[in-house]
Amino acid sequence: MPNIESTLNETRVFNPAAEFVKQANVSGMATYQTMCAAAEQDYTGYWAKLAREYVQWKKPFTKVLDESDAPFFKWFEDGELNVSYNCLDRHLATQAEKTAIIFEADDGKVSHVSYRELHGRVSQFANGLKSRGIRKGDRVIIYMPMSVEAVVAMQACARIGAIHSVVFGGFSSKSLHERIIDARAVAVITADGQMRGGKVMPLKPAVDEALSFGGCETVHSVIVYRRTGARVHWNDATNIWWHELFNSQASHCEPEWVSAEHPLFILYTSGSTGKPKGVQHSSGGYLLGAMVSMQWVFDYKASDIFWCTADVGWVTGHTYVAYGPLAMGGTQVIFEGVPTYPDAGRFWKMIQDHQVTTFYTAPTAIRSLIKLGGDLPKQYDLSSLRLLGSVGEPINPEAWMWYYNTVGQARCPIVDTWWQTETGCHMIAPLPGAMPLKPGTCTLPLPGIMAAIVNEAGDEVHDQHGGFLVIKRPFPSQIRAIWGDPERYKQSYFPAEMRGAYLAGDSARRDEDGYFWIMGRIDDVLNVSGHRLGTMEIESALASNPLVAEAAVVGKPHDIKGEAVVAFVVLKGARPEDPTKAKEIADALRNWVAKEIGPIAKPDEIRFGENLPKTRSGKIMRRLLRALAKGEEITQDISTLENPAILEQLKNTVS
Ligand code: WTA
Repeated sequence: MPNIESTLNETRVFNPAAEFVKQANVSGMATYQTMCAAAEQDYTGYWAKLAREYVQWKKPFTKVLDESDAPFFKWFEDGELNVSYNCLDRHLATQAEKTAIIFEADDGKVSHVSYRELHGRVSQFANGLKSRGIRKGDRVIIYMPMSVEAVVAMQACARIGAIHSVVFGGFSSKSLHERIIDARAVAVITADGQMRGGKVMPLKPAVDEALSFGGCETVHSVIVYRRTGARVHWNDATNIWWHELFNSQASHCEPEWVSAEHPLFILYTSGSTGKPKGVQHSSGGYLLGAMVSMQWVFDYKASDIFWCTADVGWVTGHTYVAYGPLAMGGTQVIFEGVPTYPDAGRFWKMIQDHQVTTFYTAPTAIRSLIKLGGDLPKQYDLSSLRLLGSVGEPINPEAWMWYYNTVGQARCPIVDTWWQTETGCHMIAPLPGAMPLKPGTCTLPLPGIMAAIVNEAGDEVHDQHGGFLVIKRPFPSQIRAIWGDPERYKQSYFPAEMRGAYLAGDSARRDEDGYFWIMGRIDDVLNVSGHRLGTMEIESALASNPLVAEAAVVGKPHDIKGEAVVAFVVLKGARPEDPTKAKEIADALRNWVAKEIGPIAKPDEIRFGENLPKTRSGKIMRRLLRALAKGEEITQDISTLENPAILEQLKNTVS
């Protein structure tokens, strides 16, 4: 595993500055250890106390954790709450006029939305949803640009107990269709289009196309927010403009009080098979996770201006845009556009303009901004910053050092946060006023998160070799089910060998201080620009092209994206010998994948062969493909390979 070696040499340690420790929500390692000890001593008592402290309950819970139907765990089940109430109403008495959202549009136009306004808009839109017959438990797809309205849509669903499923605006109509069907959604909330980097990008046509693929009879409403003013196709039977639905509604909407276990949302993510998994989250436990991680990891203060750059289409945009900052009563920045428009100084200018204190982004963005203008941050006043964060993949020490020195001016701790769609909130991350930092490690688990590293037999390993990352005890914010597929939930996350522990799907090792170093996925999942893509998903997209007989997809290291997608393809017809012809077919296949899944899944490289390297029993030898993709000499044992000649063919032809 190559990235172990590169990080093993990392010996730099950055202790938290005394001034930071003094003001921190969790100050010093001793405090952290006391919290961990409290969780060890009385696990359910520890979480129950936090749940009472952080969450406002309509009806208090009496049961904390129910493990009787493991691994279908239930937390605070007889407690009743509403997540939107916890994000909005609870702040009205004390800080109604505080800015909840600073929205900056692609063209730089800025608007501020107070808690009072946001509460009104969410209530009004929630009434609109109800007027369309949408009820508690109904599934609503949200396919929207980064906008205040996207957050309003999510919060409005939460308010009436409808279960939202946000689909990233970069996904294709095919992906959207698959999710509408799987969730059996009753409504789709979308926009005519989105503005990104000065360009108008359509959204509504993908919804129209998805619905035209058939099987979507459950969808009775398509609600369209007008953003770009582009002409859109209109179906009078089901389509309604956001503003028309919204304007006719009252601005009071009594929240629907739901059990803590009521599903708040489903978010689809890639797994090791072709079909995305609908990760189902709870209301109470999820909210608690979002809040404690804001408090501990982001060291949240009422005076903060928080900015998480993630799109609401990903889990990071759920927990640290749509829910966490609002539940804490914070002020946050939401940005519609891209970091490179009008130039690669956009993020730094926005930090300066909005006096951002806490900035949370992905290593891939950091690396691309280094490349496009490593000195640009120096042109801006970034003195408002006090904390930086990173998420999505391991941050390489070079990028860490640049982030620390050039953006944070050696003043701001960096919280490298390890977590997943399935965990709902940070699991392993520094508490910045407590942990000494080392570039490249997400350090130690949050207090109450029983992370460990085990071998294939499920036994804990304590040496440097590493193994599978697991979480030994159930925790409040974790996935509750894969929507509609309980068996897959059990098999993916709770295989028998792990003896009840949650299997994260990552490998990791611990160093002499017990710090966790994430090494990568153990399954067939790639991490491209911090986004999870299943190799099987891309393979089945390729194989569905009429030209393709067979395809195998692997990842290869990439300077900016972390991993790049490399596809090995066998065509039904002859292998294209002519490079121009090969390139033409490769481009067509790339566009095909973009249409089937979305542009993020486009293979960077396509190599054509007459066959794929297989064992005598017909299994594709992926380790050979990985070596080929990296351009390595094949040193592995190929005695079981049926058709060795194929390696030569796949080695040299890149399209
Ligand atoms: C990877 C994103 C190393 C990991 C929140 C995980 C990370 C997958 C880190 C989840 C990190 C995320 N260091 N690896 N700080 N954060 N990962 O579901 O492989 O989109 O399993 O959730 O991203 O990706 P997901």
